[in-house]
Amino acid sequence: MTRIPASIDETETLLTGAGYVSSRALSTVVFLSLKLGRPLFLEGEAGVGKTEIAKAIASALGRRLIRLQCYEGLDAASAVYEWNFAAQMLAIRAEDAKSDDLFSDKYLIARPLLEAMRPQEGGAPVLLIDELDRTDEPFEAFLLEALSDFQVTIPELGTVRAPEPPIVILTSNRTREVHDALKRRCLYHWVDYPDFEREMEIVTARAPEAAEALSREVVAFVQALRGEDLFKKPGVAETIDWAKCLVALDHLELSPQVISDTLGAILKYQDDIQKLQGSEAKRLLDEARAGLA
Ligand SMILES: Nc1ncnc2c1ncn2[C@@H]1O[C@H](COP(=O)(O)OP(=O)(O)O)[C@@H](O)[C@H]1O
Ligand SMILES: [Mg+2]
Repeated sequence: MTRIPASIDETETLLTGAGYVSSRALSTVVFLSLKLGRPLFLEGEAGVGKTEIAKAIASALGRRLIRLQCYEGLDAASAVYEWNFAAQMLAIRAEDAKSDDLFSDKYLIARPLLEAMRPQEGGAPVLLIDELDRTDEPFEAFLLEALSDFQVTIPELGTVRAPEPPIVILTSNRTREVHDALKRRCLYHWVDYPDFEREMEIVTARAPEAAEALSREVVAFVQALRGEDLFKKPGVAETIDWAKCLVALDHLELSPQVISDTLGAILKYQDDIQKLQGSEAKRLLDEARAGLA
């Protein structure tokens, strides 16, 4: 276990060591969240590196990463614990369980929130509550409570209290607004698309097999593309994927033809792809190259 960083610089070094290219503002809020023990709420478009931050923090600090992936209809039961009814029924049939055994640890299925409250080797885990905007308000209210006292009560067993509060990261792709009450409990950071320099660093770290000249064109093109009116702009994940695709095809540079053949790596909606047909790809490529010169 690594102790939590003592400064913003140290935080940045830790994140870099875990392969995460951070900005000063992000390193600052991560540092504060660790130092003050406050949950960190990260909002931003898909594919800008929100989930990855939680992974990087866990790996940098040698902590276990516990992920609660949110989805529509997620309820407290599936987030905290469930009883293994099937096993309980079998035990009853086989008559090998006294009735007071049936609600013991043996039949308890711990879900991420309960898991995060239990003692972990290596210190408090990183609890990633991912894509919170996919759940509904009742679940948010429930979460607010769980995050305020870091304990979970199981009526049949009692209360489980975290020996040390987990490091909590919440993310949202902002398909809807998350309630103020929850945000107020957290430190907040909007994760934006990186600028050219930072995206170059990310591609260099994540797709080192791509030659620098190619990466520069790829990043410049994607940056120009994000300025267009698209249904879904490409995230950093798409930039990395695209660079890898181009390397796999032995391309050393972009051309309108290469772009149109490989567009599926960066644009995932037919309407967006259609917009880049014809002279559009060439116009954007020229624009991107002019910026590089
Ligand atoms: N700042 C960054 N440093 C390193 N890799 C990054 C960064 N931002 C994004 N990535 C890459 O992009 C991918 C997608 O990021 P992810 O965290 O899944 O996006 P989000 O959760 O915001 O939708 C990651 O797997 C990682 O490879
Ligand atoms: Mg994510």
